[in-house]
Amino acid sequence: MPKIMICGRGGSGKSTLATLLAKVLAERGKVLVVDTDESNLGLPEMLGLTSPATTLMGCLGGKPAVRDKLLASIQKKGDENTGFFAGDLNLASLPAECTGGEWPLRFLRIGKIERSLEGCACPMGAVARSFLKQLQVGKNEWVLVDTEAGVEHFGRGVVEGVDLVLMVVDPSHEAVLLAERAKALAAQLSKDFIAVLNKVDAATEPFLRRELSERGIPVLGAFGFSPEIMEANLTGSPLPEGRCREQVNQLLASLSF
Ligand SMILES: Nc1ncnc2c1ncn2[C@@H]1O[C@H](COP(=O)(O)OP(=O)(O)OP(=O)(O)O)[C@@H](O)[C@H]1O
Ligand SMILES: [Mg+2]
Repeated sequence: MPKIMICGRGGSGKSTLATLLAKVLAERGKVLVVDTDESNLGLPEMLGLTSPATTLMGCLGGKPAVRDKLLASIQKKGDENTGFFAGDLNLASLPAECTGGEWPLRFLRIGKIERSLEGCACPMGAVARSFLKQLQVGKNEWVLVDTEAGVEHFGRGVVEGVDLVLMVVDPSHEAVLLAERAKALAAQLSKDFIAVLNKVDAATEPFLRRELSERGIPVLGAFGFSPEIMEANLTGSPLPEGRCREQVNQLLASLSF
């Protein structure tokens, strides 16, 4: 079963769609939601899960330890392949202290910016890349990767370890341009690429479908603006159970796995 990377521009609904998909998939098997966004904090609340005690970076000794390993590896071999994780990685072997929730739905954070002047988020990107590449996913298991806004995860190579890129497109020209760029970036690594519309209505949905179709981008799902979702995100409550279930099921049915 696949590892799906959910990307898009800022505020388009990446975390919302990751949550809606996770809730439905967790009724069919095991789902791990991986938060690779080094800034935003609210994903566990959206999912209705408690935050893990630490991040994956924390489990690896913290940012200075990760940075030292990275630098040593680059100096020695000229690449970032540090061998952060020994042996096989699968959903059953994840460190308990950095996973929140219980199966069938668990949550893992790669790392967050926690101190002023601590430096850039590149070490988080390297850990995410290595973790996702090594993570084996079995039958009836899914990994949903929530990303930061934009395309930096393509540059950092986080995308290498996933099977499918799901681009969230909200009603804006910028979102269409970003989808076009992301499709090209995904193609460079032979990754499947689809778009899902979010916050659309009767006027914006056909417009976006046309714009994306002209750019050769398949649109496999569409979600309207939901006042219940907006309210839950305003108050930091879990997204309403069963919300958009029909649209999620349609989207999953149209994916070829
Ligand atoms: N279908 C929807 N209906 C109503 N509001 C929505 C919907 N999808 C997202 N939103 C609202 O849009 C805002 C951004 O959503 P979300 O946090 O999921 O976006 P994001 O792409 O993950 O943002 P970021 O780039 O900051 O990570 C939230 O306030 C949320 O309530
Ligand atoms: Mg988000």
